[in-house]
Amino acid sequence: MLKKPVAVFISGFGSNLSVFLERKELFESLYVVSSNPRAYGLIRAKRYLVPFAVLDPKIDWDQLDADLRQNNIDTIFCAGFMKVIPVSFIERWLGKIFNLHPSLLPKYKGLKAIDRAFEAQDDIGVTIHHIAAEVDSGKIVLQKVAIKKEDLPGLTLEEATRRVQSLEHQLVAQWIDLLSPIKSD
Ligand code: GRF
Repeated sequence: MLKKPVAVFISGFGSNLSVFLERKELFESLYVVSSNPRAYGLIRAKRYLVPFAVLDPKIDWDQLDADLRQNNIDTIFCAGFMKVIPVSFIERWLGKIFNLHPSLLPKYKGLKAIDRAFEAQDDIGVTIHHIAAEVDSGKIVLQKVAIKKEDLPGLTLEEATRRVQSLEHQLVAQWIDLLSPIKSD
């Protein structure tokens, strides 16, 4: 049974988008939305023949909402999407909009989460959560530790970052497994 149509919101490299693209056949449809016209993720989307939209610098959220609905999108997954989403948009997609964050939320919300946890020599991990009105604060769906603080000494920030990224890809795949199929009625 095909999974619900998903829009993946990106701004950059798109390695997490790749987890979706590699599983493209599982979905009724995929749609990529990028806030950055030069995002490498767009090259990935093109390679997989997945349709995409590039947002204007001043995002028209009503138009984006209409575009998603026209494309029958059911669920939104933000994977490295660097724009702040307005509350009005979040409210329209409540329960159907998710975010990937490289920390063990509620710790290290916001930017440079891996760097800050590393600097504090704290546990480092990954969270997938519902998006609520407040940044990085919705209900947690999946969360896992990538590196325990006792294993940090001896690791460089680059090595730690690579481990977190690899765990992100695993968790995104798990989230896709949990995603419900479309209803046939
Ligand atoms: C990921 O670390 C994600 O958690 C963060 O932005 C990064 C995006 O990576 N919010 P990519 O574009 O999917 O490679």
